[in-house]
Amino acid sequence: MIKMINNIDSLVTMNNNGKLFKTKEEMHDVGEIKDAAIIFDNNILWIGKSQDADEAIKNNNFKIEEIISGKGKTILPGFVDSHTHIVFAGNRSNEFARRLRGATYQEIAAEGGGILRTMKATREASIEDLAQKGIQLAKSAIKYGTTSIEVKSGYGLTLESELNQLEAAKILKKELPMNIRTTFMGAHDFPPEYQNDREAYIDLLINEMLPKVAEKGLADYADAFVDKGYYTTDQGRRILTKAKELGFELRLHADELADVDAASLAAEMNCLSADHLLFVSDKGIEALKNAGTVATLLPGTAYFIRMPYAPARKMLDSGAIVALATDCNPGSCFTENMQMILSLAVINMKMTAEEALNAATINAAYALRLSDRVGSLEIGKQSDIIMADVDSYTDLFYHFGINHIERVWINGKMTL
Ligand code: NIG
Ligand code: FE
Repeated sequence: MIKMINNIDSLVTMNNNGKLFKTKEEMHDVGEIKDAAIIFDNNILWIGKSQDADEAIKNNNFKIEEIISGKGKTILPGFVDSHTHIVFAGNRSNEFARRLRGATYQEIAAEGGGILRTMKATREASIEDLAQKGIQLAKSAIKYGTTSIEVKSGYGLTLESELNQLEAAKILKKELPMNIRTTFMGAHDFPPEYQNDREAYIDLLINEMLPKVAEKGLADYADAFVDKGYYTTDQGRRILTKAKELGFELRLHADELADVDAASLAAEMNCLSADHLLFVSDKGIEALKNAGTVATLLPGTAYFIRMPYAPARKMLDSGAIVALATDCNPGSCFTENMQMILSLAVINMKMTAEEALNAATINAAYALRLSDRVGSLEIGKQSDIIMADVDSYTDLFYHFGINHIERVWINGKMTL
């Protein structure tokens, strides 16, 4: 069924003329068309000025079945949330309250709280319960404009429980219209059973868990938490090397709590993305830039655990590929709202509105290797389209703290 949105005040395409990501000056352009129209079925068929739409319809013989007014609206590609942990059980609001009283994220983790607390709840949950909770969060993310999402395991930390999380994510894929990609992150922490023999857990990851996940085809990518107190760079390298051998694409949680030069490891291993990077060094930035590894920034996490923000300006100015995502998880950043992330990016990481929008769409799609299909509005691409109740994209940032998204189409189907 062919639809048209016409009389759109601002159509923000992110068009990059077929190039799959943007850097530097390209980030200043959002491909805006004013007084625009877009014609689409499950793919985008035509984009242009509203006044030219009639002629395009005639020339192409489009049978338009629905016309939607874009008066007073901004139309954008759906947001791509390329880093989340939305499949989990339990709740850590009491830890959050303790942090508000002065405890740090690391202190709570050292007492057996943190990731291990969610691990206990996740191990006890059924696949169905995990899926239901994930579906709830993903549906909420759609309401805020997210149309593609990445979901990680990493709260099970046994073969069985990690598989359960990934099976739950598979249910999300089945039940939701979104584009969903999954990541195996058994190397998220060390489970209590192996606290005194971390090497044995790494052996388990390499010899049993990764091969099983690969055999079952349950994950698109593999990830590890290389940071102070978690996995060392050497351990990370061994895990990623095995994952690569098994055919996984790689991502890395890097330099979130301290600079351990995880960014260089991500570059060395050709990871698709290095994520967090609050403490990344200049050397790390250079390595990411040279390798073309996407620097995925998660400003919600810095905000939520009161840490310094990642040096976004340095990365952008160096020519690194920068993306934005939520990191939605129960401990270090509990939000699924990409508009909140955009606001934090411009105010606290000094990104421009244009840079933030490109980072949350085309570059985030590239971080998942989906930018040939989604992340921008271009003829032939998938119709993941969101409508905001503002007449210019700057108003998304200017009028902050509220939800501007009114309607969402994923693959051309109205979802909201
Ligand atoms: O991405 N950095 C590691 N993992 C999560 C935190 C998970 C948690 O606290 O539950 C993150 O910030
Ligand atoms: Fe994370």
